[in-house]
Amino acid sequence: MKTLVTGGGGFLGQYIVEQLLEAGHQVRVFSRGSYPELEKRGAELFSGNIRNSSHVDEACKNIDCVFHTAAKVSMFGNYHDYFQTNVLGTQHVIHGCQKNNIHKLIFTSSSSVAYHGTDQLNANESTPYPKTYLSAYSETKALSEKLIRHANGQKELLTVSLRPHLIWGPRDKYIIPRLLEQGKKGKLWIVGTGKNLTDITYVENIAKAHLLAAEHLIPKSPICGKVYYITQGKPVLMWEWINEVLGHMNIPPVTKHISFKTAYTAGALLETLYRWLHIPGEPPITRMIAQQLSTSHTYDISAAQKDFGYTPWISTEEGLKRLFSYLHEQ
Ligand SMILES: NC(=O)c1ccc[n+]([C@@H]2O[C@H](COP(=O)([O-])OP(=O)(O)OC[C@H]3O[C@@H](n4cnc5c(N)ncnc54)[C@H](OP(=O)(O)O)[C@@H]3O)[C@@H](O)[C@H]2O)c1
Repeated sequence: MKTLVTGGGGFLGQYIVEQLLEAGHQVRVFSRGSYPELEKRGAELFSGNIRNSSHVDEACKNIDCVFHTAAKVSMFGNYHDYFQTNVLGTQHVIHGCQKNNIHKLIFTSSSSVAYHGTDQLNANESTPYPKTYLSAYSETKALSEKLIRHANGQKELLTVSLRPHLIWGPRDKYIIPRLLEQGKKGKLWIVGTGKNLTDITYVENIAKAHLLAAEHLIPKSPICGKVYYITQGKPVLMWEWINEVLGHMNIPPVTKHISFKTAYTAGALLETLYRWLHIPGEPPITRMIAQQLSTSHTYDISAAQKDFGYTPWISTEEGLKRLFSYLHEQ
């Protein structure tokens, strides 16, 4: 199969590219950056910006299946910027598929598209989208997921969306490095009771879920046009898990507490300050991060198991071993 991976140079994208190559598929990587290591492994690099429809159209030529993982990923910033990449970019990918007679499009969504800011236990795909969002990232990912769902069945294109929650593993650029950095500086605080549960997703499992979904994305398959939660299927106590990661890197555990109300208020103030004063980067806490750190969020993955055979092949324990061995090598 000839495949295109948007964002193929990213954290998750690279694992999808590697697994596709290992399975004998041809892979074209669409990204702005340069990834010579992927070229060495046999991928074709296509340099482009998904905000530009002609770049996407060109990249979609002679392709059978698209994995759309590219996105602006973070918790704070200008809405317009997120919209351009996440929503317009997705629109361009859909059109690129339709113009080039591509029949399969697998979209990396996010559990945050249906996050309501409160405890969510064993939520499944019937959970409605919230009316409002506290982050431009979640809002624009929800809009793009809706576009992908709507595109299913149009011009012979079949689509499916996967919603991972908290992807982690070797080569992560966001969650683990930030935890380690803040942990070393003693700047981490437990928000709320510290007893909240969370689902997590080991990166190789979600990558493999993409390949499996592609295999099952054929006419009349139950997965066409659907969305699926993908996690380890085994929630962890968030702060216990964070402390386990810190402990392995000889960083003292987080013990200081801050109430949800204080963290949320600090987030609101800092978001306003960063916006007004055009402070570069992201505030250390935002309202959404305060919610995410203090609430339980776990997801039912039985639909993905039933419809296309997803299972968390690599356990959390094995994933942690791989992560720690990578971190120690670094
Ligand atoms: N990490 C998580 O915990 C998590 C959780 C749920 C869902 N997700 C979803 O998983 C996907 C991958 O996330 P990730 O964690 O792997 O993030 P990532 O490492 O930042 O990967 C995203 C990639 O998108 C590419 N990209 C961004 N803007 C682009 C543009 N305008 N044109 C072309 N390429 C662009 C970037 O590559 P270049 O800079 O080279 O262009 C980047 O490598 C995203 O769709 C994200 O929403 C992630």
